Amino acid sequence: MKRQRIVAGNWKMNLDFNEGRDLAIGIIRSIGSSDVLTILCPPFIHLHYISVLTNGIANIEVGAQNCHSARNGAFTGEVSAAMIKSTGASYVILGHSERREFFDEDDALLAEKVNIALASGLHPIFCCGEKLEVREAGTHEHLVRTQLENGLFHLDSDVFAKIVIAYEPVWAIGTGKTASPAQAQEMHKFIRSLIAERYGQEIADSTAILYGGSCKPDNAAEIFSQPDVDGGLIGGASLKAADFVAIVDSFPQS
Ligand code: PGA
Repeated sequence: MKRQRIVAGNWKMNLDFNEGRDLAIGIIRSIGSSDVLTILCPPFIHLHYISVLTNGIANIEVGAQNCHSARNGAFTGEVSAAMIKSTGASYVILGHSERREFFDEDDALLAEKVNIALASGLHPIFCCGEKLEVREAGTHEHLVRTQLENGLFHLDSDVFAKIVIAYEPVWAIGTGKTASPAQAQEMHKFIRSLIAERYGQEIADSTAILYGGSCKPDNAAEIFSQPDVDGGLIGGASLKAADFVAIVDSFPQS
């Protein structure tokens, strides 16, 4: 079963307008034509400009890092899924551990965000993953199962097919500590088994599951060579064009 291979760059709250433009241009210039889908996820202020820059380039898409759960309304400072879609973006990261931790986003809110994103024509990149104490207690699979059941598994199978999943162990994000390729494979295989349980093997086999957490040019190839790892969600290393493109180029030859 051939799944879409994806590398998404999560710029987080970095880069002003000019810096973001330069990074996007640098990536566009050096990215080769491959069957890897590259998704640039900058802060909101960059979405429209980068969507225009990447318009018509087959293997590059643009995504946001969050959206509000409501369609529109009196929510000062917030951005709706429909607004994101109108910029030309087609993805949105939801449930990132920083949103869960610093903005108190729980599974019930994330389920609402997933719904509004899909209804607005966006593909959610849904993040799950455990903190260090959960891993040490050995309950990481239980936690990830709960995150997926509460945030995603209410969806019907036809819409679930639009979802990308990112497994990001919180202890590996921005810490320089990656999950070992074996740890990533074990969790990705487990996530795929949960999807198979809920939606059947065919949908499980076609769902892209990305790894995130200190993924860099020097470790991406080993992680991406695992059978259930379909790519990466890249934070720090997505801020330099050369590093990011090297990660995009890290898949084994198919
Ligand atoms: P990192 O971040 O690559 O800097 O660890 C990954 C993420 O938070 O998506």
